[in-house]
Amino acid sequence: MKIVVLGGGLSPERDVSLKSASLIANALLSKGHEVALVDLYDGIENDRPAESFFRRGTVNPYSYTIPETEPDLEEIIRQHGGRRQWVGPRVIELCQYADRVFLGLHGSHGENGQVQALLDAYDVKYTGCGYLGCAIAMDKTLSKALVAGAGIPTAKWISGKYEEMTPEKIKSEIGIPCVIKPIGCGSSCGVSIVKTEEEFAPALEWAASYKQSILVEEFLKGREVTIGVVGHRALPITEIIPHEGFYDYKNKYQDGLTTHVCPAQLDPADYKKCQELAVRIFDILRMSQYGRIDMIYDEANHDFWFIEANNLPGMTNTSLLPEAAKAEGIAYEDLCEKIVMSCGRDEIEGL
Ligand SMILES: Nc1ncnc2c1ncn2[C@@H]1O[C@H](COP(=O)(O)OP(=O)(O)O)[C@@H](O)[C@H]1O
Ligand SMILES: [Mg+2]
Repeated sequence: MKIVVLGGGLSPERDVSLKSASLIANALLSKGHEVALVDLYDGIENDRPAESFFRRGTVNPYSYTIPETEPDLEEIIRQHGGRRQWVGPRVIELCQYADRVFLGLHGSHGENGQVQALLDAYDVKYTGCGYLGCAIAMDKTLSKALVAGAGIPTAKWISGKYEEMTPEKIKSEIGIPCVIKPIGCGSSCGVSIVKTEEEFAPALEWAASYKQSILVEEFLKGREVTIGVVGHRALPITEIIPHEGFYDYKNKYQDGLTTHVCPAQLDPADYKKCQELAVRIFDILRMSQYGRIDMIYDEANHDFWFIEANNLPGMTNTSLLPEAAKAEGIAYEDLCEKIVMSCGRDEIEGL
């Protein structure tokens, strides 16, 4: 089968995505597919036939190392002659030429439903949730409202434009400590935990440097867990234990800074409750195919608090969802292949 793996794009998670996409491409090549890895933003050269971009039979040709800091998107735009159009030359043509597209994208256009709607318009088969589930899950406030509406615990929150989120308002409605995040990002980009009043201004400014809409929520104490969902089934739960601080960009992507415990060691009744809750949230948010739900476990009260949903979660071979699949005996290469073979379908055959 001819498969385009889309990665990169004009998103703060561009580097993370290039790593996911490289490893997905290697996995699909190892399964005998013809694979073209394409950067959504860069696109491909104009003077080569589509066929020439597909590789076959090579072993692990792709690799990418994520730098410690997030990419400078303005610099990347400058390097491309100031082009702000986020779909690069011939990307759609190559996607149409392939049998299907594996979305190795993370953040902004890749996860907010825009790429999905664009590919729908061109009748291209792609992996992951449809545009609606993406749009809902990527909006942290909207997804919290839907989850809270279904009676599932989520931290008390306020949201609005940068100018509206004054320290006075946050102090009176949420209090300290609190968590400040941009709405519509991932990989902890722009996320701060505020413990003192002096930290308000830099945290708000940092969040606003990503998106002008900001979410402020109560800080939840407890153990952090994440649950991969494939089809409508929960994978084993993973507990996330950063060695220092919280699960920020560096702790997520630099090796050895965070311990993952999978399957998480939870009370057995709570374990089951958590998996059921994850699938319920997945359905409430209109997600499909695969995704990951982040929660905080309040052990004393046997409660799970929804943090957020990821509709194109990290897909390197050591990312959380592939690691959870592995704990069930599903090899990374098989996981990637099964996902791409079930494109456009809600269930994933064999998972
Ligand atoms: N309300 C909260 N209470 C405690 N920690 C939180 C809260 N919200 C987020 N965090 C921490 O911040 C991290 C990133 O937040 P999250 O909403 O998952 O953003 P992202 O989409 O960038 O992953 C979480 O993995 C968790 O460690
Ligand atoms: Mg998260």
